[in-house]
Amino acid sequence: MGRFADGLEERAADVLPEAVFRYFRQGSRDSTSTSEATAAWERHRFLPQVLRDVTEVDLRSTVLGAELACPFAVAPTAMQRAVHPEGEVAMARGIAAAGSLMVVSSNSGSTFEDIAATGVTFWAQVYVTADRPACLPLLHRAAAAGARAVVLTADTPVVGTKHDGEGPTIWDLAGPGWSHANFPDGYGSSPGDAKATDLGPQDVEWLARTTRLPVVVKGVLRADDARRCAEAGAAAVWVSNHGGRQFDGAAATADCLEAVVAEVGDEVEVYVDGGVRTARHVVTAHALGASAAFMGRPPVYALGTEGSAGVERLLGELDDELTEALMLLGCPSLGRVTTALLSR
Ligand code: FNR
Repeated sequence: MGRFADGLEERAADVLPEAVFRYFRQGSRDSTSTSEATAAWERHRFLPQVLRDVTEVDLRSTVLGAELACPFAVAPTAMQRAVHPEGEVAMARGIAAAGSLMVVSSNSGSTFEDIAATGVTFWAQVYVTADRPACLPLLHRAAAAGARAVVLTADTPVVGTKHDGEGPTIWDLAGPGWSHANFPDGYGSSPGDAKATDLGPQDVEWLARTTRLPVVVKGVLRADDARRCAEAGAAAVWVSNHGGRQFDGAAATADCLEAVVAEVGDEVEVYVDGGVRTARHVVTAHALGASAAFMGRPPVYALGTEGSAGVERLLGELDDELTEALMLLGCPSLGRVTTALLSR
């Protein structure tokens, strides 16, 4: 049997409505950053070790105190009910079966309660609203359902422009149930419900205080911003350019990670996403100092083509490939992957 991940995007293109597939695949503007993301991971080379006992290989990792059996975590993506009738709940089942972590988008078509009922470990992503309290019902609901952290997406004062082709867009197809399952009735009708354009470190402090959950700031590319997050009380910073969907031309995350780790890696956890597609990319992320690597689009394509089983299969296949990679690198556990493995 071939590799499940190979051709996954093409299979998703075959089964999903064109407007839905386009929405998930596209980057902003010219898709420069989207198309460069994976290549930046590919550039790294390794110096494998020999004469090491790799009879047992340990893939476990810890994020914010939670142990993950599978280190391929799943980034928040909106509107998963566009690709599967059970949307985020089906995604959660696959992730739970694989022993990974799910970050639930604030634009989810499934409730936190239904997602939690699958047993998945999950965090809740939020876009802070112009009127700050307007985003609190979502967060209180997430916390009550068992979310272990809040992910503040900081790179979206405005949604990056995407060029749609001919024909209907996902917004023409979208039912109201695709994106707003966790908001109170009437959400979105007030100007205060729009995304904040004046986010600052004080919002990180405020979220930590109000939710009493660890706050992860997502969308950080610069060491100076990572420093500001750490000083504001963030528990982690997440190096991301939003899958190339915000500023087109933003640097590849694989090229930004190391400077962020150098600045704050001793104080807070550092995560990364963007173009992560193989076990080798995850090893690279850990070698550069990340404690978790997330994927956005591939799990959605797996969900769209084969439902929960597809998500589980994608993550399981990557686990198998990671075991092989660590054996060949002479490294018996993911926790022992360091820059010393990289050839520079
Ligand atoms: C996203 N992303 C995203 N991020 C976020 O914080 N909240 C969200 O609701 C969404 N929605 C969303 C929708 C779609 C269709 C995509 C492709 C992405 C960004 C996402 O969390 C992640 O940063 C990137 O997808 C990672 O890049 P890869 O793995 O898709 O290359």
